[in-house]
Amino acid sequence: MLNVALPKGRLGEKVYAMFEKAGFPCPSIRENNRKLIFENPDCGVRYFWVKPSDVAIYVERGAADIGVAGKDILLEYAPDVYELFDLKTGVCRMAVAAPEGFRDDTRRALKVATKFTNIARAHYAARGRDIDIIHLNGSIEIAPILGLSDVIVDIVETGTTLKENHLEVVETVVPISARLIANKASFKFKNEPIEAIVKSLASQTEETV
Ligand code: PRP
Repeated sequence: MLNVALPKGRLGEKVYAMFEKAGFPCPSIRENNRKLIFENPDCGVRYFWVKPSDVAIYVERGAADIGVAGKDILLEYAPDVYELFDLKTGVCRMAVAAPEGFRDDTRRALKVATKFTNIARAHYAARGRDIDIIHLNGSIEIAPILGLSDVIVDIVETGTTLKENHLEVVETVVPISARLIANKASFKFKNEPIEAIVKSLASQTEETV
């Protein structure tokens, strides 16, 4: 049985469709219910819906053999997994954003609000900019509006959230997309089905390019 951790939500549904096309269908997953585990013994696959930020933990610890995680999570938590493939979906970017017209006062530490403290720290360390990190768990865009921070480091996809809160991108930190990841031992012992999935996903992403 190949155990696959999928990120719950729109991205996960898109990715499941790719796995289905790769020859690992599990029709019960499309039923609208609250179940979190679905399996299809006929093709030896079991899917779990997990919180997107938890996929890498399941894979790292071997509760899942493979999974799909955003590059943001892989950079932030650096899990000990193999990153096998860029699915070229869930495309967005990690960016620094600030209130429109913001100017950095380099005489003092820059107050940075973010969920991604490691990514933000590495970004500013590379520039030699002193920062004061404020870790938040969501709705990051509010922080500079209320004066909690000067800037934010967050995911920007369409840019709508920034625009509606009168913020703008100052700089891109790193481009992000969904990645197929594998547990290191599973990659060795379940190599055949994993490689089959990688091959099919590769041909599917080429079709869309
Ligand atoms: C993410 C991100 C931004 C928003 C960006 O938030 O943190 O707030 O999406 O998308 P946009 O550029 O298309 O507007 P998410 O919905 O994951 O919730 P969060 O507030 O918990 O981070």
